Amino acid sequence: MHLGLDIGTSGLRGVLMDADGAAVGAAERTYAVRHPHPGWSEQDPDDWIAACRGVVATLREAHPRAMAALEGIGLSGQMHGATLLGRDHRPLRPCMLWNDTRAHEEAATLDTGEARRISGNVVFPGFTAPKVAWVAAHEPQLFERTALVLLPKDHLRLWLTGEAVSDMSDAAGTAWLDVGGRAWSDALLAASGMRRDQMPGLVEGSAVSGRLRDAVAEQLGIPTVPVAGGGGDNAAAAAGLGTLAEGQGFVSLGTSGVVLAARERFEPRPETAIHSFCHAIPDTWYQMAVILAATDALGWLARLLGRSPGELAGAMPERAGGPGAVRFAPYLSGERTPHNDAAIRGAFTRLDVAHGAEDLTRAVMEGVAFALRDGLEALRAGGAAPERLTAAGGGARSGFWLDTLATVLGLPVDVPEAGEIGAALGAARLSACAATGASPREVMTAPPISRVVEPRAELRAAYDEAYATHRETYPALRALGPRG
Ligand code: XUL
Repeated sequence: MHLGLDIGTSGLRGVLMDADGAAVGAAERTYAVRHPHPGWSEQDPDDWIAACRGVVATLREAHPRAMAALEGIGLSGQMHGATLLGRDHRPLRPCMLWNDTRAHEEAATLDTGEARRISGNVVFPGFTAPKVAWVAAHEPQLFERTALVLLPKDHLRLWLTGEAVSDMSDAAGTAWLDVGGRAWSDALLAASGMRRDQMPGLVEGSAVSGRLRDAVAEQLGIPTVPVAGGGGDNAAAAAGLGTLAEGQGFVSLGTSGVVLAARERFEPRPETAIHSFCHAIPDTWYQMAVILAATDALGWLARLLGRSPGELAGAMPERAGGPGAVRFAPYLSGERTPHNDAAIRGAFTRLDVAHGAEDLTRAVMEGVAFALRDGLEALRAGGAAPERLTAAGGGARSGFWLDTLATVLGLPVDVPEAGEIGAALGAARLSACAATGASPREVMTAPPISRVVEPRAELRAAYDEAYATHRETYPALRALGPRG
């Protein structure tokens, strides 16, 4: 039995996996994201630990024997978050999350040719290094007290094991890692005024990072098992969905939207807004396009309309029927791929007095699909060519959204029986590798597929035309000038 814990943006999910690799139980606790200013996105690190306690308690109640037989834990989590800790290992401020773009000036300063050469990536405002540089500039008294900077899942690990450790896949999103060499870069650390002693140690995701502390094991009521390195949520999802080899990829409709392609070589494209990161298993990388608001955009619309995202999605037909009249640009938090633009903001266009909630819902789903096509095109231009995609994330529960996405992307989309738990299952699989020494490629097979959503050839031309207008929207919005 292995437990995968995934610190998502909207909640922490735990999945219990048996020796055959099947998910035998799952539990979730949600928590809040705060946006105290436009462009800011924060969470309280203590909320993750409280959610972990809750998830473990629920799983113990539902599966007492399985939890007593636990052999290991694997961690996954939202990437890039800057959790600054003092010498007492207490958070100095709320964590600045992956979709927090306040550090755009610091990112532009750090984004030098050398940084791109060593890290293989653009230094995006949402990455960890520029956010810490923002703290140095705006909260110098906190920066001076910073003894350790941890990514969200590694903060949970510190509580679980007492060890300050990260894994290669999550460390790749800090802008402090030599991603090809899989090691911290002193040059990159120095560029943002950081030292190695403020960094966690590094292990591969499929290696052991430490053991549960006795006191925590006692509190949680589980054995003192080893904790695997685990992975950033996208790498962990790739592990859960069996996305390891060239040609394999997934599309995720989570809070963020992601098109990810596994790469067996490190072929960075730092001149583009494609992310090139270490995978959670040794000698493997992946490339991905990231948009900052996928289900986040639907959740935003639902809040404004006083409905739930599920209600909005449930009002849509099961299949796509060609593009709607309204267009939506999903840049509610700025954008990463392909534009790398922290200042751009979203828009509905072509609104008519006759339009209602369904038209807006459809526009949001289509706008996200078009933005993900921008990402797929960027990946293709960079040499990654997934032939089909596995669906992941909570948005994949919507048949309409998946049908739209498959046709807009022009690729078949495989829908796993349990796609939503991909990252937590991937973390449990990494734990199985760490605890038993099993080969990652044997453990990380493709999950059972419940159905395949084929692109709709008869609708392709209409969506291509609508995509062309989506592409014209970004320069037009930019021409309107920055927010504020
Ligand atoms: C990836 C990214 C997001 C978060 C969401 O670069 O920022 O996908 O990992 O959890």
